Amino acid sequence: MARILTLTLNPALDLTLRLDSLQPGAVNRGQALVSHAAGKGLNVAQVLADLGHRVTVGGFLGSANAAPFEALFHRRGFLDAFVRVPGETRSNIKLSEHSGRITDINGPGPLVEAEHREALLERLEQIVAGHDAVVVAGSLPQGVEPDWFALLLRRLKACGVPLVLDSSGAALRAGLAVAPWLVKPNEEELAEALGVASTELLTAALHLRAQGVEHVLLSRGAAGVSWFGPDIALEARPPKVEVVSTVGAGDSLLAATLHGLLEGWPAERTLRQATAIAAQAVTQLGFGIHDREQLARLEAGVTVTSLA
Ligand SMILES: Nc1ncnc2c1ncn2[C@@H]1O[C@H](COP(=O)(O)OP(=O)(O)OP(=O)(O)O)[C@@H](O)[C@H]1O
Ligand SMILES: [Mg+2]
Repeated sequence: MARILTLTLNPALDLTLRLDSLQPGAVNRGQALVSHAAGKGLNVAQVLADLGHRVTVGGFLGSANAAPFEALFHRRGFLDAFVRVPGETRSNIKLSEHSGRITDINGPGPLVEAEHREALLERLEQIVAGHDAVVVAGSLPQGVEPDWFALLLRRLKACGVPLVLDSSGAALRAGLAVAPWLVKPNEEELAEALGVASTELLTAALHLRAQGVEHVLLSRGAAGVSWFGPDIALEARPPKVEVVSTVGAGDSLLAATLHGLLEGWPAERTLRQATAIAAQAVTQLGFGIHDREQLARLEAGVTVTSLA
C-alpha cells in the first residue's frame, strides 16, 4: 500500500438530470437528478483507493459548494489538502433524454486569484511530504495559465517524488516540457500537444522518453494502450466489451498502471490488469472496481504483445 497525492486544479460537480424530452425555451420537468463530485484527479483517487492505497486529494475547490466534495472525501477516507477559493466549483450539467440524447452544459469555474495560487505553492512541500507519488490530472481553471502550471509541476518534481501528468492542450504541452515521470495522453491529446500526425505517435512517444519522460502511456480507446518505459515497449488490447459509459476509463488506466509500478510488478502484469480495469470502467455508468470476478474475466481477455 502506498500514499499517493492527486491534484485536481479544476474539479466539477456533475449534475445529471433525466427528463422525457427536452423542450428548449419552455419549463421542463426533470424525473431524476443525480449529482456527484467529479474531476480527473478525484477519479484517479477513487480507483487508487479501490486498489488499497491511502490517498490525499488537493487542488482548488470553490468554498460556496464544497459540501458534496467533502462528503466524498469523508466517505472514501481521503485526506483533504484542497485550497478553498471564493465562489462555486463549476457544475457540469448533463440533460439526459429518454431517447438517449445527452446535452452537456459546462459551467464556468471560479477564478483562481494569485493569492490562492500562492497558497498552493507555499503549502506544496508540506502537502507532498510522505507521499510515494503525485498525480496531476485534468484541465486548468480560470486564472491558472500554462506557465504557472509548469512552475507548479517543476516544484513538484523538485520535491523528488514521482510525478504523473494527465492533461490536454496547452497544459499538456507546458507539462511535457517539465518531463514528468509518467504521462498518459490519449492519441488525440498527444497529437495536438506535439503538433504531430496520428501516424507519428509512437515515434513521438519514444522522443518524449529521450527527453526524460520515464513512462509514456498512450491510450487509444477501444484499440487499447501502448506503453513505453525503461525496457518496456508493450501494447495491450482489451477484450470486446459492451460500452455503457467511457467516463473514467483513462483515469482508471492511469491509476491501475501507477498501482502496478508502485507495487513493483512486472510490466506485463501491470498493463494487463490496468487494461482490464479500464475496460471494466467502460462497462459501468461510473467507474471503479466493484466486481472482482468480472475483472478476472476481463484480465483473461486482454492481449499483451511486445512492440520491440
Ligand atoms: N470501448 C472500450 N473497450 C475496452 N476498453 C476501452 C474502451 N474504451 C477505452 N478503453 C480503455 O480505456 C483506456 C482509456 O481510454 P481512452 O484512450 O479513451 O482515454 P481517455 O480519452 O483519456 O479517457 P477519459 O475520458 O477517461 O479521459 C484505453 O486505453 C482502453 O484500455
Ligand atoms: Mg483522459
